[in-house]
Amino acid sequence: MSRALFTSGPLDASLALPAVDMATSIGAFETPAPVFTASGCAAAGKELDQFFDITAIGGIVTKSVMLNARSGRATPRMAETPSGMLNSIGLQGPGIDAFIEHDLAWLRQRGARTVVSIAGGSVEEYGKLASKLRSVEGISAIEVNISCPNVEDRGQVFACDPNAASNVIQAVRRNADTRTPIIAKLSPDVTDIVTIAQAVERAGADALAVINTTLGMVVDLETMRPALGGITGGLSGPAIRPIAVRCVWQIHQALPNLPILGMGGIRNGEDALQFILAGASAVSVGTVTFHDPSAPLRVQQELETALARRGFTTLRDAIGYAHRGPDLPEIDEDHE
Ligand SMILES: Cc1cc2nc3c(=O)[nH]c(=O)nc-3n(C[C@H](O)[C@H](O)[C@H](O)COP(=O)(O)O)c2cc1C
Repeated sequence: MSRALFTSGPLDASLALPAVDMATSIGAFETPAPVFTASGCAAAGKELDQFFDITAIGGIVTKSVMLNARSGRATPRMAETPSGMLNSIGLQGPGIDAFIEHDLAWLRQRGARTVVSIAGGSVEEYGKLASKLRSVEGISAIEVNISCPNVEDRGQVFACDPNAASNVIQAVRRNADTRTPIIAKLSPDVTDIVTIAQAVERAGADALAVINTTLGMVVDLETMRPALGGITGGLSGPAIRPIAVRCVWQIHQALPNLPILGMGGIRNGEDALQFILAGASAVSVGTVTFHDPSAPLRVQQELETALARRGFTTLRDAIGYAHRGPDLPEIDEDHE
């Protein structure tokens, strides 16, 4: 790696920066580009393809699909929050068969790298979803959304319990094509995210997606009732970025060889760079696409510039770079 450039002032557009090798990998999934859409924020990529060439980014992570069609939760399903948004969509979707027939077929024909996100209400349902995908061509990886209530355990969220989380990942690993990398998507709503990361790694996860939304609530002062039909919802956007970067940092510190797809409030290339330096191998861009549908490609281009300005010639050299050196203290949990 060349580290000749350390500029911090405004970017001089006339300064030609050297190209950066942006290739990266998420387990056995090798990709020439590191920026993905975030599940649920770009459906199956068709709408975004009107704004930019979706084959130019790392890939599309599709909306979490369940076994059967679902209409989602009660409306209203969105509420504004400072520097973010709250949603309670509730995994609305067509069910796995229609998804394979229409959405996956379109993505394959379009030539986009595709990460399929799956979600279930029981371990068995996750296993069935994985086996349905086993013989389908053109899947780069499976992202397992474990931020779902377990209908067989009083609605306890799988991602919040290391045993439940590993049971899901084991079921997916057993039923999926052995060549398809499994990415476990973690929730930040836990006391110790490293324990969950270690459990799913032992269960066979090849990589992690970090983080899903964090649980929040807004009260509507007009009606003096919860703003969302579902009462609580998932908080996303820049408001959660420091939580996400902290989770990526802690997991990379404990499991430096486990690839991480980092996300949470990324709006531009420098936000994305924070995740890479903290230990992510690639990033997903979600909420920002609602007001800037070209954001995934823009963020990727800005990330390349941000890396070049700091003297990196390959993205891989920057992964986890913030962990270097002997002089970084342990995270002090007693931060008050
Ligand atoms: C409207 C909306 C729908 C989402 N749906 C899903 C989903 O189906 N599955 C999933 O794993 N994550 C889902 N997420 C979470 C995102 O993929 C992402 O983890 C989170 O929003 C943080 O990234 P961001 O701040 O860039 O949006 C959803 C987020 C939003 C805002």
